[in-house]
Amino acid sequence: MSLLDTPLCGLLGVRYPFVQAPMANTAPPGLAAAVSGAGALGSVAGGSLSAEKLRAAIREVRSATDRPFAVNVFAPPYLRDGALDVVLEEQPPVCSFTFGVVDPEPLREAGIVVLGTATTAEEAEALERAGVDAIVAQGAEAGGHRGSFLGGFPLVPLPKLVPSCVEAVSVPVVAAGGIMDGAGIAGALRLGAQGVSLGTAFLFTPEAGVPRAHLEALRSHETVVTDAYTGRPMRAARTPVLAELMAGPPALPFPDQRAVAAAKGPLYMGGTGAARGRELGVGELVRLLAAEAVAAERSASG
Ligand SMILES: Cc1cc2nc3c(=O)[nH]c(=O)nc-3n(C[C@H](O)[C@H](O)[C@H](O)COP(=O)(O)O)c2cc1C
Repeated sequence: MSLLDTPLCGLLGVRYPFVQAPMANTAPPGLAAAVSGAGALGSVAGGSLSAEKLRAAIREVRSATDRPFAVNVFAPPYLRDGALDVVLEEQPPVCSFTFGVVDPEPLREAGIVVLGTATTAEEAEALERAGVDAIVAQGAEAGGHRGSFLGGFPLVPLPKLVPSCVEAVSVPVVAAGGIMDGAGIAGALRLGAQGVSLGTAFLFTPEAGVPRAHLEALRSHETVVTDAYTGRPMRAARTPVLAELMAGPPALPFPDQRAVAAAKGPLYMGGTGAARGRELGVGELVRLLAAEAVAAERSASG
């Protein structure tokens, strides 16, 4: 199993270098607990939660597992009031963020491992300068909102983004975007990533509790990146509702557009690999991903 035994495992305190990507308004604490219990890193999707709800979610994961887990927050100006105080008080083993830069210093002083999200090598460098412990490289394939924060919303595919980030920074790089199986994991590790972050793959586990309509939409429509639903570019299933919004007037600024769009119908976020989602329990999925990655690496090396 040496392929999967990367230094990131030691940093995060996990058996497998797999992160369950945080998914605001979608991934419940029970999913994070199940993923951590299976030997990977579960994430509390804290970005959109009030301080009170964030604390409750963290405590829910803690009561279900003694394994390490992450808490995700949005960077300023989208950081919710009191969220960082809750993280510092509750001291989860890992804190991740997206949409910008959260000062890692107070978190690291509290013994929390800090992960930042980059969509370009330049953003990875900025995060390393800020002092994060590792960088999640979010490729163009990723479901959900783009984490970009340094001018524009570039869509760099993962096979280009990972090597450019690995070259640009000395902290570990975690690859995110369109990874659905062990072959995808082995491919990302071969590019120099020390771990992977999977969002959409976990949407299909019963522990995620995602409505059937969401999974069906991901199976039956291509995904597309657009700001038409929330006012910020994100990847989701191109349903008739989303197509209509894309053809309509320019979106209001993030996040105000969401209320306008929600009146037309639901949003189903997911990555480019969504059609390959497998409905397996978390424990089974994590074990399968690990076994497939090792097998893929063996056949590649030959
Ligand atoms: C439904 C959904 C919600 C998401 N919400 C968040 C979030 O709250 N915070 C965050 O850092 N990333 C969020 N993301 C992006 C993920 O962190 C990650 O980049 C993405 O899931 C990786 O691509 P994949 O879905 O193809 O695996 C979200 C993704 C999805 C699909």
